[in-house]
Parts: sequence; structure tokens; C-alpha cells
Amino acid sequence: MNILLLGSGGRESAFAWKIAQSPKCKQLFIAPGNAGTGQYGQNLDVKVTDFEGIKKAVLSNNIDLVLVGPEEPLVKGIHDFFLADGEIRNVPVIGPRAEGAQLEGSKDFSKQFMQRHNIPTATSKTFTKDTLEDGLHYLATAGLPVVLKADGLAAGKGVLICLSLEEAQAELRSMLMDAKFGDASSMVVIEQFLQGIELSVFVMTDGSHYKILPEAKDYKRIGEGDTGLNTGGMGSVSPVPFADAAFMQKVEERVIIPTVEGLKAENIPYKGFIFIGLMNCEGEPQVIEYNCRMGDPETESVMPRIESDFVDLLIGVAEGNLDQKELTISNKIAATVMMVSGGYPGDYLKHKAITGTENVRDSHVFHAGTYLDGETVKTSGGRVLAVTSLQDDMFTALQQATADTSRIYFDGMYFRKDIGFDLL
Ligand code: AMP
Ligand code: GLY
Repeated sequence: MNILLLGSGGRESAFAWKIAQSPKCKQLFIAPGNAGTGQYGQNLDVKVTDFEGIKKAVLSNNIDLVLVGPEEPLVKGIHDFFLADGEIRNVPVIGPRAEGAQLEGSKDFSKQFMQRHNIPTATSKTFTKDTLEDGLHYLATAGLPVVLKADGLAAGKGVLICLSLEEAQAELRSMLMDAKFGDASSMVVIEQFLQGIELSVFVMTDGSHYKILPEAKDYKRIGEGDTGLNTGGMGSVSPVPFADAAFMQKVEERVIIPTVEGLKAENIPYKGFIFIGLMNCEGEPQVIEYNCRMGDPETESVMPRIESDFVDLLIGVAEGNLDQKELTISNKIAATVMMVSGGYPGDYLKHKAITGTENVRDSHVFHAGTYLDGETVKTSGGRVLAVTSLQDDMFTALQQATADTSRIYFDGMYFRKDIGFDLL
């Protein structure tokens, strides 16, 4: 079959690498892709939110299946757009419709969903401009630290952890009254702070059946030792040693099953990925957030551990027979180190030539923010390359991924040298 993959980051590079290995994939197209995805298929110059452009690409390339990488087109209704159009209605889209994507698109929706289905999560309450005074009072009675979350998509920036009441009240005002995060903060969820260690759990579902993909740990802070500003993610490791069988059983029983069943009970059709951001609080799982897609840089560590034909699993999601598909997971350890541009996560350098990727021997180099300038690969994004090593033991995987980044060069590059070493 011909497959169209939407997106242009490291996640999409890892998807493309895996899809291209499938005998079921005749031709792979990536829109818009990056300088690396061209190794696995054909890049198309179409933006992920250009639905008409995507429709044209689907028709002209005889696409049989569309896999959506990032959340934005899902929240904006790309799946619904396909279903409403007679010419592309029968092309399956992997990724939920707009209503299901609200699990990520609205924190208030996801908190209410969890409450309705008794899914463990931090206590919370939602406020708007009209209920600002109530919100300020609520903060005064809440413990510290306290977490403020913009309801809508805010490019990963909409969550604030406040250490004092004064700070929390000032931030609440600024989010609700001064649109600190634009429209996204017209509603704010105030949430209890959870103490624990985080991990990302990934579920693939056809709406009735589900498969649990390899879990991963993401390293969000820019600095070594988990210090400094939050980023999209500076590295990842899979599997996660503290997510042992007993913990994962609790996750399946208390979170995954009620989530899939809850969607079904509420008549929210859902075909795609559910990314569950979890806190392990002394062995008890608490949901921090849902995302309606795979994680980045988690996917770069998850895909190499999937031994089965990934396209066959995608077909299972599309056809509603995921229960009949096989998911085999490697026992090996995958570690990913992100190489980022100088200045990231603030304003960062761009258009720097990248050299040395050909010297990497024992890792995959997944391109994230790159483009081709003639024959030269250059940087275009904050997160530039994801270097992933798959090895028999964790120490070797971490060491190899970290060592292989040193073989690559671009002006101003930065990466963390401590990804995963806390897990040893
Ligand atoms: P989110 O966008 O919901 O993933 O939040 C971003 C980050 O904020 C998470 O990855 C956590 O590190 C942190 N966070 C969010 N909610 C909480 C919470 N209730 N308690 C502690 N940390 C949180
Ligand atoms: N790595 C976290 C995310 O993809 O949202």
C-alpha cells in the first residue's frame, strides 16, 4: 500500500524508518518531512494543516493510509475532514477525530473525562475570566506547590508550577485576564502538585482493542541533572526500569482499560495513539496528561524496540482488528540523545551546516529540524537530530548514543551527556 505520513520531526523520522522496512509498504510519502525522511520515502511540500493540499496529495499519489504525526492537525479535525469528503472518505486516517483529540486539546476536557471514569489523577478545578475571584480563593486553600495549566494547546509552554501563593495568583490573573498563552489560557486548570517520577506510556487502539507499545522516559529539561528550562524533550530511554510488571499492570487496569472503555462508552470513536503522561507516585500511577499522538523524542526509542511489522499494526487500527495483529517487543534497550541548536529552547541558531552523520556506526540518526540546501544538510529547528542506539544493556545503549553524538558537528550544537544515567 501507499502511505502518507504527516509531520517533519524526529518522531516522523522514526516512523518513516520503521514503515519503510515493511513489505506491506509500497511507497511512503512524508509531508513535509525533513532532510532525513527523504532516505525512507518521498517528501512532499505540503504543510500538516493544509487539509486541501493533503487531499490533493492523497488523490495524486493513490494513498491508501494516512498516519498523522503531530497533534495540531488532529485537534483541527483532519480526520473529520477526510470523513466529510466523498473523494477521500475511504482513506483511513490513523489519529483520532477532533472530539477524541480533545484529550490533548483541552486539559479541562481530559480532567473531566478522567473524573467520569475514575482514572487516577491530581485533584483539580477549572476557572475562567468570569470565575477569577473563585480561582484566587481556591489557590489560597490549595497546597503548595500548585500547578496551573492553560486549557488549550500552548506548544508545551502552558504549564506553570508555582511555589508561592503570590506567584500562583499573579500567574492565574495573567493567564485569564492578559491572555498569557492567548486563547489557550482563556480557561485554566488548577491542579494539585504530584511528587514522583514521570514516564510516558503509549497505547495503540482501533477504538475497541488496544496494544500497549513500549513505554519510555523523556528528559524534558535543557540542562544536565534535569535543570533549566523545559524543552520538547532532550532524550529518551525505553524500557523504563521502574515501570516493572506490577506497576504496568496497575497502569493497564486503572488507566488504559478505563480510558479505552470510557471513549467507547461516550461514543467517541478513536483510532490512533493515546500517549499517557504518568507520574509514578510511590508505585501508584497518576495521570498527568493525555496526548492524542506519539511522543517526541520517545518515538525514536520506541520504534527500534518494535520487532513486528508496524504497517500491519496500523492496518489493524484502520480495520478494527488490532486484536488479531501481532506486537513483538525487543528486550533490548533504546537510548536517544537529542542534539539541539544553540539558544534552544529560546531563540536559536539556524542554517548551520551539519557534518559527520556518516561517521555514526552503532546508532540511528533520526533527523528532526533539518533541511537540504543543495547537497548540504542544514539546521532549521531547535531540535535538530535524534541519535538512538539499541543495545543489549542500558549502560552500552546510553554510552553509545552519547558517544555517537560526538561524531556529529554543527555550529552552536548542544546535547545532554547525562540522558538515562539516573536509571542505571
Ligand atoms: P503537561 O503539559 O501536562 O505534560 O505538563 C508539563 C510538565 O509539567 C509535565 O511533564 C510534568 O513534569 C509537569 N506537571 C504537570 N502536571 C503536574 C502535576 N500535577 N504535578 C507535578 N508536575 C506536573
Ligand atoms: N516528549 C513529550 C511530548 O512529545 O509531548
